[in-house]
Amino acid sequence: MLLTVQSINVAYGHAVVLKDISLSVDIGEMVFVVGRNGAGKTTFLKTVAGFMKPEKGAIIYGGKQVGNTGPERMALDGVRYVFQDKRVFTNLTVRENIQLAAHPSGERLDSAIEKVVQIYPPIVNFLDSKAGGLSGGQRQLLLLGRALIGNPRLLLIDEPTEGLAAGIIKEVFKVLEQIKGSVSMIIVEQNLSVVCRLADRVYAMKEGRIPAVFSEQREIQDRSRMEQYL
Ligand SMILES: Nc1ncnc2c1ncn2[C@@H]1O[C@H](COP(=O)(O)OP(=O)(O)OP(=O)(O)O)[C@@H](O)[C@H]1O
Ligand SMILES: [Mg+2]
Repeated sequence: MLLTVQSINVAYGHAVVLKDISLSVDIGEMVFVVGRNGAGKTTFLKTVAGFMKPEKGAIIYGGKQVGNTGPERMALDGVRYVFQDKRVFTNLTVRENIQLAAHPSGERLDSAIEKVVQIYPPIVNFLDSKAGGLSGGQRQLLLLGRALIGNPRLLLIDEPTEGLAAGIIKEVFKVLEQIKGSVSMIIVEQNLSVVCRLADRVYAMKEGRIPAVFSEQREIQDRSRMEQYL
């Protein structure tokens, strides 16, 4: 396994919001987490990315215990976190946004740009425009492209289609489909048609716990059981 999370609890102050969570991701797997607002999905991704430390349990990544490793180290070890808020540097150009990701990863700017253009070719027309002028969907595609810079091993993607128009959701779906298998991913997603078509495994999260895991394709294709957690 690339990542094994074992019975972790995570709290904000005294409020324990993740309780006894276990999850694993193998190399090349695309794993989804579904659940209602406030279930703890973002807190879970933040914890794997190293922004929060579990109070109990263990996180093993690449064969090492990483529960107390901070986000910089996790990023250097190939973890990329695409935040729920789709935030880009609005006053910088698209090219400069890519440059900021390329620099710390050690990847050359031209190959970094090529990666982003490869997953979303129309971005080539916006390289010298301010990223603030991009639509929500275009920002998401830029962020997904940026996450691929510098040979990532694990992508953590928080609600990639949230708030996007139907047409651009299709583009995001195509990108996820295109990169599936080439890098491991944990994706938080409420859009079950995206989940059903891409997932290798689905974890349902409810009130900080994981009451159900769907591992068989037959279970993943049958939306009705997943729907009760949304
Ligand atoms: N910084 C914080 N301080 C205190 N409590 C927080 C903080 N962030 C989140 N919480 C609480 O933790 C719980 C889980 O929140 P989280 O954002 O992880 O849920 P989520 O499943 O991602 O929800 P959404 O679908 O709305 O994004 C919620 O009860 C939330 O109010
Ligand atoms: Mg969230």
